[in-house]
Amino acid sequence: MTYQAKDYSHLIGMEGFSETLLKNHFTLYQGYVNNTNKLYDLLSSKAKDATNPEYAELKRRFGFEFNGMRLHEYYFENLGGKAPLDKSGTLAPKIADAFGSYEAWEQDFKATGAMRGIGWAILYQDNVTGWLFNQWINEHEVGHLAGGKPILVMDVFEHAFMTDYGLKRADYIASFFKNINWEVVETRLA
Ligand SMILES: [Fe+2]
Repeated sequence: MTYQAKDYSHLIGMEGFSETLLKNHFTLYQGYVNNTNKLYDLLSSKAKDATNPEYAELKRRFGFEFNGMRLHEYYFENLGGKAPLDKSGTLAPKIADAFGSYEAWEQDFKATGAMRGIGWAILYQDNVTGWLFNQWINEHEVGHLAGGKPILVMDVFEHAFMTDYGLKRADYIASFFKNINWEVVETRLA
């Protein structure tokens, strides 16, 4: 099994995101793809010895690298949009059910993303009930909802914004919102 890094260079030119920031971010993403492949190969060739700390730590690390790869793919794929959320689509009423209104959801999603720490804000759909949740993910692998579907994914590691925004994370989040590709987000709904 070998993963290939995807090409998101079409995002260059997006308002509020410099070319330098995006190119550095693509390079970081490629690192997660390379490390996912490397860990997979290492674990495949190692003796399956639970008492070996090297085996155990590589096993623990796989979730970090794999999710670092996959979350960046969700993130870059839900960027590059121009149009706002279609209020007559399937997502808008689900957001209104779960959060009271679109505005209340946006406020909660932005607050989730502005929390102290490095990680991700994710709008998740519970695969059992279909209900929506705004979830904080610590680093790449802590806090995911089991079986849940990521619907909208926002990177809030400092590398996602510091080049352009310094410590002004709220300004970055505002720019992120201007570039959400709601058509892609809508297709992720179950
Ligand atoms: Fe990132």
